[in-house]
Amino acid sequence: MSTAVGWGVAGCGWVARDHALPALLATPGARVVALHDRDPGATARMDVAGPAHADLGAFLATPGLDAVYVAVPNAAHREVVEAAAAAGKAVLCEKPLAADVADARAMATAAREAGVLLGTAYDQRWHPAHVRLRELVPELGTVTALRIVYCCWLPADWSPDGRPHDNWRVDRTRAGGGAAIDLAPHGLDLAGVLLGEDVVELRALLQRRVQNYPVDDGALLSGRTAGGVLVDLHVAFNTPDALPRRRLEVVGTRGMAVAVDTMGQTAGGCLTLHRPEPVDVPFADGSPFAAQFAAFTAAVAGHAPWPYDADRDLALHRLLLTTLGDAR
Ligand SMILES: NC(=O)c1ccc[n+]([C@@H]2O[C@H](COP(=O)([O-])OP(=O)(O)OC[C@H]3O[C@@H](n4cnc5c(N)ncnc54)[C@H](O)[C@@H]3O)[C@@H](O)[C@H]2O)c1
Repeated sequence: MSTAVGWGVAGCGWVARDHALPALLATPGARVVALHDRDPGATARMDVAGPAHADLGAFLATPGLDAVYVAVPNAAHREVVEAAAAAGKAVLCEKPLAADVADARAMATAAREAGVLLGTAYDQRWHPAHVRLRELVPELGTVTALRIVYCCWLPADWSPDGRPHDNWRVDRTRAGGGAAIDLAPHGLDLAGVLLGEDVVELRALLQRRVQNYPVDDGALLSGRTAGGVLVDLHVAFNTPDALPRRRLEVVGTRGMAVAVDTMGQTAGGCLTLHRPEPVDVPFADGSPFAAQFAAFTAAVAGHAPWPYDADRDLALHRLLLTTLGDAR
């Protein structure tokens, strides 16, 4: 490996272009060496020089390629992750791991057998407010509940930038479902990261109430961790973006922490600690994507371990998809 970790981006759509690439380009010790997308127009819109390949094999053969960020639609994750692992590349794969459980399991197996690092791109683990909130949890006493509202407006013709967009998110075959599979993985992951114990029991109610498509546009999920903390998620594609719609609360016997507008792709938001008087809690001003790529780059370079186990991410994915299957 040269001194800088060579990154390739597979899938050059919204999240790669607007959030991952700027973070990657600013990551010390990282350089972007290749792009892959089946649509040449997508790679052309990426603000970086370097080889762009529509062919996956040619992309993976790029000299100096050490790690691949996978941001193709959910059902296409498996093909890219398996090929990258077989080529010996570390892989940071976008959430949800896959559109179903079998694909996610195959991806974890492929990485294990190839001996490569596989991480899930749960950027919200890395939001500075959530990093700070994790430190505050012991001050809350016995934690009883974690409540999340993570909603947005996503109609059938949704586009991230006004350009005509292939809205695969509302196609069950390519997404694996609707609002619940798209948005709930972040909350389930965050619950485990913040509490230090994962949800092990989960129930769901799905809704199709506003949008004109055949997958859920809203969901309530209720879970319980092994230690007995109740976890409540409201996720939706049917909440106007102008309304308050991103909130995370951790409730304990001695206090409560509330994070507002911290869930998402960007920096910012606010964090308040109630014990019982409300006190604003400052936190660093950094992009969750930047922190995520810095950590994965350090892990690939061998400077620090990646702190999240792929088998744990797979177990949460299986729990969510099994539950959603029951709820359908
Ligand atoms: N972490 C987050 O906050 C976050 C935010 C948005 C999206 N995501 C995840 O990132 C992934 C991509 O989402 P997006 O919103 O950027 O989608 P998008 O539709 O904007 O981009 C997907 C890109 O993949 C390309 N593509 C499709 N199938 C392909 C294939 N088989 N091989 C190669 N290229 C292919 C498309 O041409 C497109 O450019 C999804 O898994 C999504 O869940 C995560």
